[in-house]
Amino acid sequence: MNADSRNHVPDLQGRNVARAGAPIMPAAKLPAHLLQNARILPDRTDILPLLPKGKVFVEVGVAFGQFTDLILEICQPSLFIAIDLFRLHELETMWGRPTAEWLDGKDHLSFYRDKYRDLIEAGRMQVLAGDSAEMLASLPDGSIDILYLDADHTYEGVKRDLAALAPKLHEDGILIANDYTMVEVGLSGEPYGVIQAVNEFMIAENWEMIYFALQNYMYCDVALRRARPEGASPRLPGDAAEDGGAGETGTIETGRGGTARDEAARDERGVEQMSRFARLLVERADLLAERNDLLAERDRLGTERNALRARLAAAEDELQALRADNAALRAALAALHASRSWRLTAPLRRLAALLDGGRGRRRKSAG
Ligand SMILES: C[S@@+](CC[C@H](N)C(=O)[O-])C[C@H]1O[C@@H](n2cnc3c(N)ncnc32)[C@H](O)[C@@H]1O
Repeated sequence: MNADSRNHVPDLQGRNVARAGAPIMPAAKLPAHLLQNARILPDRTDILPLLPKGKVFVEVGVAFGQFTDLILEICQPSLFIAIDLFRLHELETMWGRPTAEWLDGKDHLSFYRDKYRDLIEAGRMQVLAGDSAEMLASLPDGSIDILYLDADHTYEGVKRDLAALAPKLHEDGILIANDYTMVEVGLSGEPYGVIQAVNEFMIAENWEMIYFALQNYMYCDVALRRARPEGASPRLPGDAAEDGGAGETGTIETGRGGTARDEAARDERGVEQMSRFARLLVERADLLAERNDLLAERDRLGTERNALRARLAAAEDELQALRADNAALRAALAALHASRSWRLTAPLRRLAALLDGGRGRRRKSAG
């Protein structure tokens, strides 16, 4: 593939990554044998319960840790490695919200480290700040069980990351690539290079697709593993049902007190429950975000209300002063009308003094 790098604009969010209007390069067609074990899932969160637990899990591109939370909760990795440039504080807004709000006013790295301080101190999380391909290159070969790739979405960026991560993944390792889609549909319509780079990688390195997870804007995820030779033993929970030899009868004993078919049904139920759990977690995260927005709006309205109250109090003071002036004027005029004295200058002087005083007071309150 010959993508023109001048069309690509490096972007920290990993989303707006190429100039709008840049040509979309076609992806290589995947051969059927690399898709024969693929299963379609409703959402990326449905992949997580299907992954083995207690493994070394790397997330490349963690942003604010929303997906990190789900991985930790559902996959319970023995070690989690977070890789990111950790420079999102340099952006004014992200996903329609001021970045400072996402980060509680901290810089990106401090925010993420503070969020997972306990895990880091317990030695169950490592945080690597820097370019994804460089950080991946620093890890030992074969040391990663599962890797979630969600950083630079340009063709060149994904290709570089795939080249760096492949030797780092364990022989049975699973690679999940996020945003397996052609263009940024939310904001800009800019092209991505994920599908092109991933398909090339699968064909060149003989990796097969095991999950294709849909998303409501088609920011799909694909999970891949090295294609296994014909007849090789199963490696994933879902494989047991397909390859465990239960066949049509489903009567083979599994050693866990049931047939392969029973076991598969149990696995399926477990997976369904975990999927429901994952969806609830996502819903909870959405509700928390909505609550934060509402709290911010309440604070803003409270400040506005206080300012209005202060202005109302000032206006009431001014009104009182005007009423007092008017009352004094009326009294002075009444005195004038009632005066039988040919010397009218005294009440008139009093009236002039009152008028001057009233004007002075009004000027002061207006200032
Ligand atoms: C879309 S966000 C990740 C979202 C996260 N995986 C989630 O689902 O919640 C992309 C992240 O990739 C990071 N990123 C982009 N290019 C990168 C690069 N070359 N090296 C490391 N991180 C990068 C950005 O800083 C950003 O945090």
